[in-house]
Amino acid sequence: MVAVKNSGHYGLSGYYAEQAVKKNLITMIYTNAPPAVAPHGALKTLFGTNPICFGSPTGSKIPFILDTSISMINRGKIRVAARNNQSIPAGVALDKSGKPTIDAKKALAGVQLPIAGFRGSGLAWMVDILSGVLTGGNHAGRVKDPFDDFSGPQNIGHLFITFKANLFQKNYNQRIKDNIKTIKKLPKIKGVKEIMYPGQNKYARYKNNYKKRNFYTGYNKERFGNLNKLTSLEHPKKR
Ligand SMILES: NC(=O)c1ccc[n+]([C@@H]2O[C@H](COP(=O)([O-])OP(=O)(O)OC[C@H]3O[C@@H](n4cnc5c(N)ncnc54)[C@H](O)[C@@H]3O)[C@@H](O)[C@H]2O)c1
Repeated sequence: MVAVKNSGHYGLSGYYAEQAVKKNLITMIYTNAPPAVAPHGALKTLFGTNPICFGSPTGSKIPFILDTSISMINRGKIRVAARNNQSIPAGVALDKSGKPTIDAKKALAGVQLPIAGFRGSGLAWMVDILSGVLTGGNHAGRVKDPFDDFSGPQNIGHLFITFKANLFQKNYNQRIKDNIKTIKKLPKIKGVKEIMYPGQNKYARYKNNYKKRNFYTGYNKERFGNLNKLTSLEHPKKR
């Protein structure tokens, strides 16, 4: 178990989980983040989008990596929508007076909603305790916003818990293969081709982008130009 304090934005939790999974380790990772989400019943942001990450080997090349924020929408997506005068989906945010809004700018001034109401709020709170209270990092809404508060370090906290997948059952990989196979065989809703496990969708996207040598899919070409060509960068490692 590793606890980190005095940290800044560390990017994607799944990146760290993937490294552990490659060594046949199960991993749970928690991090807090600047205020974005209102605790259930509150009209003020306090929790970050506090991602919860769980990684496990699958006995196949594609790891199981559940890496999910506890907010209905990423803050970055709201910022992009606000910049481009676009609306955001209904049901993901409230304006500053507590009314539901699809106006990105009003959402940034108001509060983001957690996933699944009080359940998501509880998960966000759990992450704040594990990554902030426990580690010595900032917590309870005191993590600084890297975009508009330069008064000091963010002091984000992270918690990494990792252990051998075959700790209790020697044939863990065989067991998880059976688990995934059983779930994948379930009858599907119309229009669904495959029941995917978390991480599978992202691996497929990565493979596709790798094939096209497209490493900067998230960037707006008009603003940044074609970074692939400009930098002539190759991806450091094929996974
Ligand atoms: N450092 C920070 O402060 C911070 C804060 C929030 C989010 N993040 C990162 O942002 C990233 C994106 O978060 P997100 O909440 O938008 O993720 P997301 O909603 O794209 O995916 C959440 C999870 O659902 C799985 N998933 C998605 N579609 C699926 C499907 N059709 N079938 C099965 N599984 C599916 C994904 O593999 C993933 O594990 C994460 O890597 C997270 O760590 C970082």
